[in-house]
This record gives sequence, C-alpha cells and structure tokens, in this order.
Amino acid sequence: MPVAMITGGSKGLGRALAGALAGEGWDLVLDARTAGVLEETARELRGRYGTRVVAVPGDVTDAAHRADLVAAAGSLGGLDLLVSNASVLGAEPLVRLDALPLEGLRRALETNVVAALGLVQEALPSLRASEAGAVVVISSDAAAEPYPTWGGYGASKAALDQLAAVLGEEEPGLRVWAVDPGDMATDLYAAAVPEDTDARPSPESVAPAYLRLVRERPAGGRYAAPALLEGPAGQGGGAR
Ligand SMILES: NC(=O)c1ccc[n+]([C@@H]2O[C@H](COP(=O)([O-])OP(=O)(O)OC[C@H]3O[C@@H](n4cnc5c(N)ncnc54)[C@H](OP(=O)(O)O)[C@@H]3O)[C@@H](O)[C@H]2O)c1
Repeated sequence: MPVAMITGGSKGLGRALAGALAGEGWDLVLDARTAGVLEETARELRGRYGTRVVAVPGDVTDAAHRADLVAAAGSLGGLDLLVSNASVLGAEPLVRLDALPLEGLRRALETNVVAALGLVQEALPSLRASEAGAVVVISSDAAAEPYPTWGGYGASKAALDQLAAVLGEEEPGLRVWAVDPGDMATDLYAAAVPEDTDARPSPESVAPAYLRLVRERPAGGRYAAPALLEGPAGQGGGAR
C-alpha cells in the first residue's frame, strides 16, 4: 500500500485528507501536538478503513520529531506522499501589521515555512525512492491576496508557495503541488476571525480536490481546490 504523511492530521483539513486517503487504501503517518486528539483520530481511521495509521505526537518545529515521522513512514515501507498541512496563524485573532507581535510572525514562519522545508529535507530520500513521490503543501488565498490582518500568516504561505515551486523545479522526479483549499469551517479559521460566523465549506467537502491531484498527477504548480473540484486538473485548476 502507498504511504502518506500528513502533518496536522488530527483535525480540520488534515483529518479530512487522512480519511479521504485511508478510504483509498493509503497507509498513514499523522502528527499533531495534542496527543489525545491525534490518537483518537488515528483510532477512528483504523477502525473505519482498516489501513495502518501511525500517530506520532509532536511539534513539526522540532527536528527530532521530524526524524521520528520519517522513521515511522519507513516502518510502513517508505513514503510516497508528504502533505505539509500543519500551520499556525501567528496571532489569534489576527491583527493588523501595525500590531502584529514579531514573535508571532517568527512562530508562523518557523512552523509554516522552516519546519515544512525541514520535513521535506528529512523525507526527500524516501520520496525519491518512491515510484510516484509527491509533496503537497497547503497554501491559502492569503498568500496571493492582500487581505487586511492576514499579512503575517499570508507572508508565510507566500514563502511556502515559493519553496514548493522551486522544489518542483529542483526535483523533477517528484510532483510538487501547492494547493489553496479556500475558506473552511475549522478551528484555525474560528481562531483567526472569531466574529465571522458565516457558514463555510467543511474540510471533508474540500478533500476530494486533493485526492484528484494524487490520482491524476497533473503537472506541479499552484492549484485552487474549488477549481479542482469543478474543471479539468490541467486547466481550470492550473497554477496561477
Ligand atoms: N480553515 C481555512 O479557512 C483555511 C484556509 C486556507 C488555508 N488553510 C490551511 O489549511 C491547513 C489546515 O488548517 P485547518 O483550517 O484544518 O486548521 P485546524 O483545524 O486548526 O488544524 C490544524 C492542524 O495542525 C496541527 N498543528 C498546528 N501546529 C502544529 C505544529 N507546530 N506541529 C504539529 N501539528 C501542528 C493541529 O493540531 P495541534 O494543535 O494539536 O498541534 C491540527 O491537527 C493549514 O495549512 C491552513 O493554513 C485553512
């Protein structure tokens, strides 16, 4: 069975992606900092889909934890897909740049960019050894649009997008996709903008867009999930 690693796999989009992949027979390595929630998710996925799910609690900013994650994938036979999903906002709720604590910006960059690259570096030998190695980084429209208060987080996502684009050029044997999921009803969004209680799509409704990439393996680049859910992957969902 192919093996996927999903950071931040305990809830929200990460959990939805874990369920979607497990439903297609993927074995999984999941992480998150809150061990109890992560273990519960892993237990539920094992019970529902019968695939192997290894839960490795920890913080992606910890290099030893990243090594443990790749070792866990090795124990399942290797690594075919790395999903870099775990992210933090840097300020909860979000604030304008004139009030953004620099420590919060550092935390967002450390988690969303530095740790993501660290995990890619750790995982590259396994991904290169796979017949269909792929990396998905979870982007955001805040990476491309100047939404007030989303500046620090958006800057981290723009940096992540660029890392993914360059990685795709440097590693032609891998598929590297950056995918903007669009707004979703998750804890992250609620923490970002607590006063915004409008209805939003569930992460489960967005997960099929990611499955489509994994199944169809279009060219690397930046994609938007809503377009992937509608049009041909190589056209409507293409890089922008
Ligand atoms: N929700 C939206 O509207 C939206 C829109 C665009 C993009 N996104 C992106 O979608 C992705 C998933 O977000 P979400 O909305 O699903 O958020 P979420 O429900 O809050 O889930 C975030 C996940 O990441 C984990 N996590 C956070 N920091 C971590 C760390 N340092 N080390 C390991 N795990 C960590 C969390 O668990 P612990 O807290 O237990 O560690 C949790 O499992 C993120 O990349 C986010 O930027 C979301």
